[in-house]
Amino acid sequence: MSFNQGQMVIAPSILSANFASLGAECDAVLAAGADMIHFDVMDNHYVPNLTMGPLVCKALRDYGIAAPIDVHLMVDPVDALIEKFAAAGATYITIHPEATRHLDRSLALIRDLGCKAGLVLNPGTPVEVARQVLGRLDVLLLMSVNPGFGGQSFIPYVLDKLRDARQLIDGAGLAVRLEVDGGVKVQNATDIARAGADTFVVGSEIFSRVDYSGVLAELRAALALA
Ligand code: DX5
Ligand code: ZN
Repeated sequence: MSFNQGQMVIAPSILSANFASLGAECDAVLAAGADMIHFDVMDNHYVPNLTMGPLVCKALRDYGIAAPIDVHLMVDPVDALIEKFAAAGATYITIHPEATRHLDRSLALIRDLGCKAGLVLNPGTPVEVARQVLGRLDVLLLMSVNPGFGGQSFIPYVLDKLRDARQLIDGAGLAVRLEVDGGVKVQNATDIARAGADTFVVGSEIFSRVDYSGVLAELRAALALA
C-alpha cells in the first residue's frame, strides 16, 4: 500500500461524496482511476464542522475498500483518535500541530501503530514547523484552504509554501510525500504540481461531476503537463 517516489497520487475527498452511499462512492472513484481515499475527520471543536468517526472508516474496510485510506484528523485532542483510526484500518493518519501538545510523540504514535504519519499545516502556519519532525513523516500536507469545509478557493500563496516545502524535503534527502488539500481543480493542478506537490486531495471538483472517469482523466492530463 505505498506509492512510488514521484508518482502523482490523486486522493478524492469523500467529504463531497454522497454520504448516503459512501461505499459505492469510494468504489466508483477508485474504478474511475483514483489512487487513495481522503477521509476528513472534523470534531466541531478544532474546526467548525462535524463529519465522520472511526466507525465509518471501519465500515468502508468491511465493505471491501482495499485502497489506501488517508485519514485527515481535524480534531483536538488527537491522540485517542489516532489509536482508534489505526484500529479502523487507516493507512495514512495526518495531524495538525495545534491539536497536540506533544507533536513528536503523536507522530511517533502513528508509526508505532503501523500507519504512515503525516503533518498538516494550515495556510497561516509556516513550513518551518515541519523541519524538526521531518524524519518522523511519511507525508507533509499543506492546506490550501482553511480547514473545515469543501468547495473553498485555493489560496494562491500556498504555491510558494509548496516550493519551500519541496526544497526542505529534497534538501533533507527524505522520501516524504508532499500533499495539497483544498481548492484543487483541473484548471490549477498543473501549477500546483509544478510547485512540487505529488499528492492531490480533490473533493468538490470530482464529486460535483457525474462522470468521475472524465474528471479524473482531466486531472491526470493536467498533472502530466507539469
Ligand atoms: C477541508 C478538507 C478538504 C476538502 C477539500 O477541510 O480537508 O479535504 O474536502 O475539498 P475541495 O477539494 O472541495 O476544496
Ligand atoms: Zn482533508
